[in-house]
Amino acid sequence: MAEPLVLGIETSCDETGVALVRGNELLVDAVASSMEEHARYGGIIPEVASRAHLEAMIPTIQKALGDADVDLSEIDAVAVTAGPGLVGPLTIGASAAKALSIGLNKPLYGVNHVIGHACVDQLVDGPLPERAMALVVSGGHSSLLMVDDIATNVTELGSTLDDAAGEAFDKVGRLLGLPYPGGPHIDRLAREGDPTAIRFPRGLTAAKDQAKHAYDFSFSGLKTAVARWVEARTDAGQAIPVNDVAASFAEAVADVLTAKTIAACHKHGVDTLVIGGGFSANSQLREMAAKRCAEAGIDLRIPPIRYCTDNGAMIAALGSAVVRAGVAPSSLDIPVDSSMPLTTITV
Ligand code: KG4
Ligand code: ZN
Repeated sequence: MAEPLVLGIETSCDETGVALVRGNELLVDAVASSMEEHARYGGIIPEVASRAHLEAMIPTIQKALGDADVDLSEIDAVAVTAGPGLVGPLTIGASAAKALSIGLNKPLYGVNHVIGHACVDQLVDGPLPERAMALVVSGGHSSLLMVDDIATNVTELGSTLDDAAGEAFDKVGRLLGLPYPGGPHIDRLAREGDPTAIRFPRGLTAAKDQAKHAYDFSFSGLKTAVARWVEARTDAGQAIPVNDVAASFAEAVADVLTAKTIAACHKHGVDTLVIGGGFSANSQLREMAAKRCAEAGIDLRIPPIRYCTDNGAMIAALGSAVVRAGVAPSSLDIPVDSSMPLTTITV
């Protein structure tokens, strides 16, 4: 018998994503983004994002079905992001998914967005091995997950205590006068700079942090250190070597992310690492992860960037995994949860 056909809907932030997955095969991945509307505010405005999701939802569903040449009646299950994310945007997606589930009389699965970022890799690189590590890094999250079974057993080893990696890049971008979002601009400048020019602090890497925060991240001290360094130079009337600042800052972020992740792999005997989330586009992280994983004998899997930014495929992929694992469907009155725990795979 053919594997079930799962429709996935993602609306946790500013992308309206709708995708169809059968087994680990992606049939279509349609996306509409409201990013341009947010750029002029220098950040995501939840109400603007909610309105954009509302307007994009039906056209995006229709586009996905049309492009895949699939009729609604062929769908076996509906998966939707239940959290974490912005409450208004999440509610739009959940409402659409519930309506489809009722209308089609097919089961609903409310799933975890962050775990979706790890699961999407199965569509590209095939099933995850028995135990894998997942580093999910974006503007909203920086989390280290140990995945024993993507559908039923995920352990959160650590998370950021303050800013996410992409958020730290965006904040440093602002203080360097770069357009929003600053992350890709810093990446570009950093490639021209010297990463050893300035030794910026590596958060939570001191011996005293090993007991409680071995796998947690903190980037706000680093961001402040960059601000102080730039301020001191400016006050002294000196020019700012922007490329070197960008490179040294990016180096500090990549160093902490990769060092902690590889230490966790060693500690837990894991030899497969998935990196997901929009920040996985970062060149410094990619290079350092590739080098250090090769040295450590760890198989590194990073899906193409279009599957790393928020999308429907990641939610359809996780929906497909939980359906195939025989996980019970969600009830039709599930709430959305802006701070859904990362160990909760389905609600
Ligand atoms: O996953 P994503 O598209 O959106 C959410 O966070 O939900 O991630 C976007 C984040 C932004 O903070 C952006 O500045 C950062 O990832 N980013 C980058 C790069 N590309 C995107 N940061 C550094 N280097 C990049 N190449
Ligand atoms: Zn995300």
